[in-house]
Amino acid sequence: MNILHIDCSPRSESHSRQLSAAVAHKLLEILPHAQIYRRDVGYKPIPHAGAAYATALSTPASLAAAGRSADALLLAEQLIQEVEYADVIVIGTPMNNFTVPSVLKAWIDQILRVSRTMKSSPAGKIGMLRDRPVFVCIASGGVFRGDRSNQPDFITPYLSAVLGCIGLKTVHYLPMQATAFLDESRAAALRSSLVATIQPEMVGLVHSSV
Ligand SMILES: Cc1cc2nc3c(=O)[nH]c(=O)nc-3n(C[C@H](O)[C@H](O)[C@H](O)COP(=O)(O)O)c2cc1C
Repeated sequence: MNILHIDCSPRSESHSRQLSAAVAHKLLEILPHAQIYRRDVGYKPIPHAGAAYATALSTPASLAAAGRSADALLLAEQLIQEVEYADVIVIGTPMNNFTVPSVLKAWIDQILRVSRTMKSSPAGKIGMLRDRPVFVCIASGGVFRGDRSNQPDFITPYLSAVLGCIGLKTVHYLPMQATAFLDESRAAALRSSLVATIQPEMVGLVHSSV
């Protein structure tokens, strides 16, 4: 059993880091033999899609010619294999300007690829990866969900769309909202209440096949 734990905040005192760590800890209680492995794009950002990568993905012919082992696709292949190896994925991310930070977008740009993680069809994209639970821990300075929301939410529909189109359809959102107004004790209480929503059934997909 493998848990891929991704963090995206550049801050060590980050709310999304603390929440994703608490979620990973809770998952280890549910799956005591699980191994956790890390991809930290907050502390170690990956490069944005460069010319060689963009050229390889520009047409079906250039993609076929590149092949999986082309230098331009090596980073993408490594990141995709990390996702494939995982039975459960935990993502800690800030909300930046209503959506994902650019470091997470850079990761997404490496993960979604026609003929590798998704197929293109007239009806839309079809995921090629098996489904598995994804827990997304979002820290936002303000409120984007519920009665008190006062800003657009492009982050949850966007992540559901990008993860869903490669086959990861079981996405659970844990929003750590209004961090600008939380003292440590209220932050800890909110973190605990979010972690308490995680139930063993939510990782029940780990034995499903493609
Ligand atoms: C560049 C930038 C953009 C931000 N945009 C938003 C935003 O659109 N909505 C919001 O509620 N908070 C926004 N914030 C505040 C962060 O979401 C908030 O500080 C959050 O706690 C950061 O995550 P972290 O604690 O995990 O580092 C923004 C912060 C930065 C630095």
